[in-house]
Amino acid sequence: MNTIHVTASNSYDVLVGAGLLDRTGEYAAKLTHAVCAAVVSDDTVFPLYGEAVCRSLRAAGLRVVSYVFPHGERSKNIETFSDILNFLAENRVTRTDLVVALGGGVVGDVTGFASACYLRGVAYIQIPTTLLAAVDSSVGGKTAIDLRAGKNLAGSFYQPHLVLCDTNTLATLPDAIFADGCAEVVKYAMYGNAPFFEELSQNGVKNQLSHVISTCVCMKRDVVCADEFDRGGRQILNFGHTFGHAVERCSDFSVSHGSAVAIGMAMMSRAAVKRGLCDASVLAALLALLHELGLPTEPTFSASELLEAACRDKKISGSTLNLIVPRAIGSCEITPIDTSELSAWLRDGGAV
Ligand code: NAD
Ligand code: GLY
Repeated sequence: MNTIHVTASNSYDVLVGAGLLDRTGEYAAKLTHAVCAAVVSDDTVFPLYGEAVCRSLRAAGLRVVSYVFPHGERSKNIETFSDILNFLAENRVTRTDLVVALGGGVVGDVTGFASACYLRGVAYIQIPTTLLAAVDSSVGGKTAIDLRAGKNLAGSFYQPHLVLCDTNTLATLPDAIFADGCAEVVKYAMYGNAPFFEELSQNGVKNQLSHVISTCVCMKRDVVCADEFDRGGRQILNFGHTFGHAVERCSDFSVSHGSAVAIGMAMMSRAAVKRGLCDASVLAALLALLHELGLPTEPTFSASELLEAACRDKKISGSTLNLIVPRAIGSCEITPIDTSELSAWLRDGGAV
């Protein structure tokens, strides 16, 4: 098992290893004086892993209640958020009790936000069960729900008390959802770890899962420790995301987050090559790795459609947007542009 310590406004460990679900209760008991644990999950994950988590919590002497909502991005909304809060209140969860988010990024984000708001903040544990949640969303304390106007438009920074990443849970992921997580893995290699990019190109992700997750979590830990509240350096984690979010929006979310990020990274790299900001070999290596991991790289929307969607990005300040531009494998730069330049970047990125 690997232990990665995150030092932020609340400091905590990320544990990565096989078989950790069965030890949830043991870790929870060490961490808090909770008498009740509320397990929140979705209707795909709970039938697979809910009982193991609840059994372990009960064995540690906790009263366990569980709340399960329909899987998928469409549940990451204010109704689910409100239902979780009411569930916690109706089940007399107190401020010294514990919430457990068992699932992918959707469960983690909405449950984290509910934990931040319920009684002005109760402790919560993230148990990520997708690769994307393991390498990204469960670590760093960004919690959110989507609003009608767009994704992640309401939320808070609220660090978990523990992240338990049981690598065994990833065995049941459908290939396409596993591939989504691979896009985030490639993002880490591209912005800051050339040797890791080489390892991924040689050995893939599945054959070295624990190493891959731990490497990404260590990288995210370093970024979050330096800029927990996303005022500067943390923006590097958005490589591929500005154009990716636009692709997601244009597809009405039928293109998954990971696939959209893969397309976004390819577009940004294409544009960087076209503008002489990085070598064509960088783009070639990125496209080869993304294809090898089963990810798409071509946008199917026009520059004007993507522009409309990109202009609704919550990261725009005034008329400035920071693009994350690759300069080499393992090196990206935060590059401020005026939003009037976005259309040209999108066209250079290969928008149809
Ligand atoms: P998800 O939570 O919707 O999970 C994808 C699907 O996989 C769901 O249908 C789920 O039920 C199923 N699933 C989960 N674990 C499984 C398992 N072990 N076996 C079988 N099926 C399983 O999506 P995701 O890709 O995990 O996360 C995407 C979300 O994460 C988006 O809402 C995105 O905005 C958010 N996100 C947040 C951050 C952050 O820092 N907070 C970072 C990146 C992404
Ligand atoms: N996933 C981007 C971040 O945590 O900042």
